[in-house]
Amino acid sequence: MVLDSKLENIFLQITSRAALSSSYFIGKKNKQAADKAAVDSMRLDLNKVDMKGKIVIGEGELDEAPMLYIGEKLGTKNGPELDIAVDPLEGTNFAANNLPGALSVIAVAGKSNLFNAPETYMNKITANVTEKDVIDLDFSINKNIDNLAQYKNKKPENLTVCILERPRHKKIIEDLIKLNVKLKLITDGDVSGALLVTDKKYGVDLFLGIGGGPEGVLAASALDACNCYFQGKFLFKTEKEKLRANKMGIVDLDKKYDLKEIVKGDSIFCATGITSGDLVSGIHIQGDEFISETFITHKSSGLKKKIRIKQKI
Ligand code: FBP
Repeated sequence: MVLDSKLENIFLQITSRAALSSSYFIGKKNKQAADKAAVDSMRLDLNKVDMKGKIVIGEGELDEAPMLYIGEKLGTKNGPELDIAVDPLEGTNFAANNLPGALSVIAVAGKSNLFNAPETYMNKITANVTEKDVIDLDFSINKNIDNLAQYKNKKPENLTVCILERPRHKKIIEDLIKLNVKLKLITDGDVSGALLVTDKKYGVDLFLGIGGGPEGVLAASALDACNCYFQGKFLFKTEKEKLRANKMGIVDLDKKYDLKEIVKGDSIFCATGITSGDLVSGIHIQGDEFISETFITHKSSGLKKKIRIKQKI
């Protein structure tokens, strides 16, 4: 299913307004309030769209989240059947502490074309590589770096690797240091981290490590439009997580997913900055108007750019 290009502007407006709503809570040390503002705005606007929309990635299961829960139906019911993945506030710490990198994110695809990802961790790897077997979650760090260095015709010391700074990544980070690559350690926000491989201007050659599964699916939509490589493997720890995964139809809990298994067909991705970061600038309020910057991609139309818009509050 090819998505109508009119939807690009519709979803860009939705993430822009959600980013604005959340921006009033920047630096207020209140993650919940910043998140709720983005969720409320996004839900209100999604319900106005002419579509039969269904949340496949949202704020959690119905028993945990009253709004934008997985399975929630949204839209006017006149229009295409769409799968919707949302992260109204990606980087709650960033917004609460007035740090760079908070985003409001949506990915949309035709019905059944976005992976219904459980709320669990995912081991991910991304790079601006089109061929298979250059990078792989099953390769050692050494092999991934060697292969990528050859592929990019660079020395390992000139490769930059982005990874969430977490105790669980201690060994990987030590290995990367031994290989003398440049590290880009991020404290949060791995949707943005995963997307820094999409353009040379960000100076990141490889993103890897364990972060949120939903964030992996969102990033995969934009990576697809940018012809980048992505692999992800969910990590189910508790019996509850495993049971939930089975209920969602995941039979092989150790499966490694390629991009095309996560995002099928056409998709639109929008990430609007709340606070300024590597990917996009944050919300700027001028009197009764605000300026937002959104990184938008649309697979079928080839759209991949940052769009700045000024609109009335
Ligand atoms: P929130 O916006 O929900 O706070 O998530 C931020 C984030 O850094 C994600 O980008 C990332 O996928 C996840 O948290 C990593 O989880 P953890 O902080 O548990 O390592």
